[in-house]
Amino acid sequence: FALRGTVFTASNAHQLHCIENALVCVDENGVITAVLHQDDTGYSQACQHYQLQGQLTVLEPGQYVLPGFVDLHVHAPQWPQTGKALDLPLNEWLQDNTFPLEARYADIDFARQVYLSLVDTLLANGTTTAMYFATLHDRSSLELARICLEKGQRALVGRVAMDNPDQCPDYYRDESATAAIEATARFIDDVYQLPGNTLRRVRPVITPRFIPSCTDELLTGLGALARRSGCHVQTHCSESDWEHQYVQQRHHKNDTQALNDFGLITRKTVLAHANFLNDEDMDTLKAAGAGVAHCPLSNFYFSNAVFPLRKALERHLHVGLGSDLSGGHSPSMFDSCRHAITASNALHDGVDPAIQAASRGNGSAKIDFRQAFWLATGGGGEALDLPIGQIKTGYAFDALMLDCRATEGNVVIWPELDSSPDILQKIIYNAARSNIIRTWVQGELVFSR
Ligand code: GUN
Ligand code: FE
Repeated sequence: FALRGTVFTASNAHQLHCIENALVCVDENGVITAVLHQDDTGYSQACQHYQLQGQLTVLEPGQYVLPGFVDLHVHAPQWPQTGKALDLPLNEWLQDNTFPLEARYADIDFARQVYLSLVDTLLANGTTTAMYFATLHDRSSLELARICLEKGQRALVGRVAMDNPDQCPDYYRDESATAAIEATARFIDDVYQLPGNTLRRVRPVITPRFIPSCTDELLTGLGALARRSGCHVQTHCSESDWEHQYVQQRHHKNDTQALNDFGLITRKTVLAHANFLNDEDMDTLKAAGAGVAHCPLSNFYFSNAVFPLRKALERHLHVGLGSDLSGGHSPSMFDSCRHAITASNALHDGVDPAIQAASRGNGSAKIDFRQAFWLATGGGGEALDLPIGQIKTGYAFDALMLDCRATEGNVVIWPELDSSPDILQKIIYNAARSNIIRTWVQGELVFSR
């Protein structure tokens, strides 16, 4: 099929494409085979061809196609506590609220209810790919993978590993490092073998929760498994002062270096937060091609810090955005974009050298809607090493259609005043779930209103 209308897509943090009257052609495998501009040769013939076949959708003015969002960091089991308990510091929030909630996922029926609700919500919000932490339960973690497959969401799902008796409660802890490593290896096989997962729309992720939750034996074993399996890896890194200092005391180095020593920093690793990266840490991530899930909203609550995003982008690290549900309270990647912009402004020292020297020393830290849009789409795809997040030939057609004509919406487009980039800027700042009228993954319609 083909779609004709205005397309917004970014090919890096600085290159935004606003293509009016684009023709996006998608083959039967859900792969984009062409993105034609209206003055390209063959444009009219191609439009005619798809129209004759009854396979052309023409967008109305005020409707737009964007790449689907990539949410690099979501705790699926925390969905029921979204918007609760955010006044607590990280470790108290984990021990008093989050671990008791996650322990409930021994109950597969409870897990199923929550996961169905979450995946529906994310698809309606335009999140076509999510990288999930599940829990340490084998069956309900696999159930999350199965539900993503059933609903059509592209997903990376981790069965969480956590065995450290000093940091994890008795009721919510892996029996031993060996048991957690074996369970993770089984989970990888089980996800690949799910019926219907032939194209690997759903992938397993090796998921040590974070260094404090894991013994050295577990981290070493999971590093070896990462090397053997070639799977994705996810964990929390340098999130808060408490966590950072814990790792300093235990390993006498930053999280990134410790994780690297355990073999957990690979091209397919996504580190959530990474707020306290120093130059050496950035070099380590750059050398491995590892990615960062910038979680601006939850950083405001738990981190006492702001991720040095602009610096990471200038060093060409792979960075995307994470909602960090429920450490962050919004399932919308539009919100993640807004918070990333706001956080970058908070880190910015301005242009006056005297102010820069006297204050935070971060210099120029601002990003704008273009970088935020890239992070939420192509940046996430790049971090995952998957051909997603761009409306581009050879990429999967993971996309959403926005309708900004809706009178109940907050996006006000004023054609005589707004350029195409202005329109995207207004969308990034003010679009809501109600503006998303269709969501596709791999060319398949997975949500419509
Ligand atoms: N660190 C370890 N576990 C978690 C979690 O569930 N959420 C956040 N934000 N940080 C963590
Ligand atoms: Fe998290």
